[in-house]
Amino acid sequence: MQTRIETIINEVKNFSIKSREELDSFKIHFSSRKGILGVILDEFKLLDKEEKIKMGRYINSLKEEVENKIEEAQSLIVQGKEGNLRRFDKSKPQYPILMGSRNPVSIVLKEVVDIFYYLGFVVSQGPEIEDDWHNFSALNFDENHPAREMQDTFFIDKDFTLRTHTSSVQVREMEKGKLPIRTISPGRVYRNEAISSRSHCFFHQIEGLCIDEDISFADLKQTLFTFVKRFFGEKTKVRYRPSYFPFTEPSAEMDVFLGIENDDDYRITKGTGWLEILGCGMVDPQVLINCKIDTDKYNGYAFGLGIDRISMYKYGITDIRELSENDVRFLKQFTKV
Ligand code: PHE
Repeated sequence: MQTRIETIINEVKNFSIKSREELDSFKIHFSSRKGILGVILDEFKLLDKEEKIKMGRYINSLKEEVENKIEEAQSLIVQGKEGNLRRFDKSKPQYPILMGSRNPVSIVLKEVVDIFYYLGFVVSQGPEIEDDWHNFSALNFDENHPAREMQDTFFIDKDFTLRTHTSSVQVREMEKGKLPIRTISPGRVYRNEAISSRSHCFFHQIEGLCIDEDISFADLKQTLFTFVKRFFGEKTKVRYRPSYFPFTEPSAEMDVFLGIENDDDYRITKGTGWLEILGCGMVDPQVLINCKIDTDKYNGYAFGLGIDRISMYKYGITDIRELSENDVRFLKQFTKV
C-alpha cells in the first residue's frame, strides 16, 4: 500500500491542470468519493490498528498533496491565467519592471513653474476650449485681427475655439477680482499651422501675469532676468526687442544669447546665437477695464513663453514632433531625468 500511495502522490504532482475542465477531471479522478483517494480510504478502514498507524501519515500526505493541487489551480484560474497554467512556475524570478518616463515638455514645465513659484507666482489653469471673449475680445483683439482668421485658429463653432494661447486663463484670473495677482498659467495651446520639424498645431506655453499697485517695466525685466539666469545659467545674456501684442503696451520680445558652439546651436538660433523665448509687456489698460479692474489703482505686466522650444534646446531635440509621438525609443532616454 505504501508504494502505491507514493506512486499516486507522484501522479498528483505531475498532473497538469490548465483549465476548469481539467480541474474537474482531476477532482473526479483523485478526490471524489469514488476516486483514488476514496478507494484508498476504504481500504484503510479495513486495516488493523498497527497498520493504520503506519499508513496514516502516507494517506495524510496524499490528501495534502491533492488539496494543494486543487487550491493552486483554483487560485490561478480565478486570476484568469487558465491558459498559462502549464507554464506557471512559482519559483521563477519576476520580469524586470519597466519604468515609465516623463515627457521632456513636462520636465521643463515643472522646472519653469518651480522657478516662478519661488518668485511668488501661483499656478492657475483654464479650459482648452475657449469662448471668443476669453481668447480674443477681452484681450483687445480687434474684430478683424489676423489671429482670428481661419489659418491661425481652430474654430469649434462660431462661438468657441481651441485656445490659441494661455492668456485666456489670465483673463479668467483677472475677472475673479481678487487683487493683487501673481499667477502663471501653464498649458497646451492650438494653432492651425502646417506641421513640420519646427512647428506643430499644438504646443505648450506658460504665461505669467502680475497685477498690483505701481508695477513697472523694470519689475518685468528683473523677474524675467531672474528666471533666465536660473534656467539657462548665471552668465546668460538677454535682449529685448520692441514688439506688438494687442493686450500689452509697450510690448517686447525677449531673446537669450546661447552662442554658437555647434551645428545644433547654429540651426536653433538661425545662425545668430540668439534664441527668441518669450513675448511680454505691460498689460494694456483696456484689458484691465475689460476685466473690471480699477486702472487708477492697479497696473501690471504679462509674459508668455513657449515650452516646447526651450525643451528642444535643453535636450538637443531636433524635431518638435518627437515630443508628442510617444515613441518609446525616444521617451526612454528621459527615465533618469
Ligand atoms: N500670448 C502671447 C502669444 O501667445 C504671448 C504673450 C503673453 C505676449 C503675454 C505678451 C504678454 O504669443
